[in-house]
Amino acid sequence: MITLDDVSKRYPNGTFALRDVDLRIDAGEFVFVVGSSGAGKSTLNRLLIREEMPSSGRVVVDGQDVARMKRSQVPHLRRKVGVVFQDFKLLQTKTVAQNIGFALVVTGHHPDVVREETDRALALVGLTPRRQHFPRELSGGEQQRTAIARALVSRPRILIADEPTGNLDPVTSWEIIKLFVRVNELGTTLLMATHNAEIVNALRRRVIHLDQGAIVRDEREGLYAA
Ligand SMILES: Nc1ncnc2c1ncn2[C@@H]1O[C@H](COP(=O)(O)OP(=O)(O)OP(=O)(O)O)[C@@H](O)[C@H]1O
Ligand SMILES: [Mg+2]
Repeated sequence: MITLDDVSKRYPNGTFALRDVDLRIDAGEFVFVVGSSGAGKSTLNRLLIREEMPSSGRVVVDGQDVARMKRSQVPHLRRKVGVVFQDFKLLQTKTVAQNIGFALVVTGHHPDVVREETDRALALVGLTPRRQHFPRELSGGEQQRTAIARALVSRPRILIADEPTGNLDPVTSWEIIKLFVRVNELGTTLLMATHNAEIVNALRRRVIHLDQGAIVRDEREGLYAA
C-alpha cells in the first residue's frame, strides 16, 4: 500500500529530515511511527500526500509514484489518504456536519451523496447528535472525532494521524485510539505518528522508530522503546 525506496528529504534550508528510508507497509496494517521531536515523522506523512516532494528516492502510494503523478491527480491521492492532525484543523465557521462533508461538496458531489456519506462518517465516530454544533462548542475529543470523520468521508484506503492525541487527556486519547482500531479493522491502513508510549506499548502493533531521519528500528508487535 505504501512503499518508500531509498527516500531522502532535504528541506531548502539544508535540513535533512529523512535519510535513505526504505519502507513497505501492506494494506490493512496498523503502524506506529515514533521518534523524538525532529526525527522526521511529520515529514514522512507529508511525503505520502505530496505536501512535500522527496529529494531523492521513490514514494509509492497505492501503486502510484507520488512524485511522478500529474498535478491534476493530487486531489485523487488526497482522497485515498485521509489525514488527522494534533490540532484538529476544523473550519470554525462551519458545523460538524459541514466540516465533514466539505471535501465532497467542493468536489461537486450531489447533495444527497454529501448527506449520506456525512451521516455514515458521523455515525462511525459517534457524533450524530452533534452534527449541527460548531467546533467551539465541542470538547477536544469531539473535535478530534469530527476531524477523523472528515478524513474518512472520502472512504480513504489509508488514514494518517500525526500526533492525534497530543492535545487530549488520557481517557479521551484512549477513545480516539479505540476508534482508530475500529477504522483499521474495517480495512483502512493506519499510520500513526506519536509520542504516546503508553498507547504504543498497550497496542503492540508494528512500530517504526525514526532517529534523525533514519529508520533505526522496525518491529512487529513492537514497544515504544526497546
Ligand atoms: N518546512 C521545513 N523547512 C525546513 N526544515 C524543516 C521543515 N519541516 C521540518 N523541518 C526539519 O526537518 C526535521 C524533521 O522534522 P519533522 O517535523 O518531520 O519531525 P517530527 O518527527 O514530526 O517532530 P515532532 O515530534 O516535533 O513533530 C527537523 O529537523 C525539522 O526542523
Ligand atoms: Mg511532527
